[in-house]
Amino acid sequence: MPSGDEIRESQRKAWAGLSAGWEKWDSIIMDQLGPVTTAMLEHLDISADQQHLDIASGTGEPGLTVARLAPRGHLVLTDLAGEMLDIAKRRANYLGITNFDTKTCSADDLPFGDASFDSVSVRFGYMFLPDVAAATAEFARVLKPGGRLCSSVWVKPEENPWTSIAMQAIATEVVLAPQDPDGPNMFRCAAPGYVTNLYEAAGLNDVAEWDVGVELVTTSPGQYWEMISEHVSLAVAALKQVDEAAQNRIAKIVKDKVSAYEVDGVVRVPGMARCIVGTK
Ligand SMILES: C[S@@+](CC[C@H](N)C(=O)[O-])C[C@H]1O[C@@H](n2cnc3c(N)ncnc32)[C@H](O)[C@@H]1O
Repeated sequence: MPSGDEIRESQRKAWAGLSAGWEKWDSIIMDQLGPVTTAMLEHLDISADQQHLDIASGTGEPGLTVARLAPRGHLVLTDLAGEMLDIAKRRANYLGITNFDTKTCSADDLPFGDASFDSVSVRFGYMFLPDVAAATAEFARVLKPGGRLCSSVWVKPEENPWTSIAMQAIATEVVLAPQDPDGPNMFRCAAPGYVTNLYEAAGLNDVAEWDVGVELVTTSPGQYWEMISEHVSLAVAALKQVDEAAQNRIAKIVKDKVSAYEVDGVVRVPGMARCIVGTK
């Protein structure tokens, strides 16, 4: 079982390596995950002067959307990988957003005082944290009384063909090590109630969770495979283990399967996320 430091270091390296893929495919990723941001914002109760903290911000969402809704407020974007936050800064610059700072730090050791923020968001970051309970205690600590925490995670692979199609094809060539249920992986928080229990253990109230459908929309099975193989953490790691011939065989299986989702030149592959909200 790797230590917390080992997990943080391997995550930092992995996401630094994935950052170019996330920037390249930014608009498709943002369109796919947009409904989750909308759902999270509906429960965060953002005011014009909101002080907001975004955890595991990656390329900046949903934090930058909050910053736009809070023109007199302030956003802090945080992430373990400075390379991801550099992309967030470029996105903010492009979008003309200036009311924010970035901080490279781990979610379970936040360099902020108690009760500093009106709200905290964590979109698709929970599953990669070394100690999810310690991190949730940190989120609760930095929230002001009455402040809200809202996060999102992926539900089980069967409801996420946008990624499981690729993983099943990869498994025909790569012996995938069984996932440690308590270690970082995309589906670690998939069980109903998993994050709710963390919130309640950290003393949050009025906790609720609900599922939100998403769609990965690309222009062809080829584009689908190109983007998945360049930005999905599990896929990128697994593909490094095989040679080019095996990668080509995997690509063929994926494209054949994904073509079932193509209608009139548009490929729409569905997925399901879960959002969880709680109040301090
Ligand atoms: C799937 S990305 C999500 C990025 C963004 N929130 C979004 O939804 O587009 C996961 C992010 O978690 C970050 N991460 C992983 N471990 C972390 C940790 N211990 N503390 C903070 N961020 C971490 C990664 O660097 C990566 O940017």
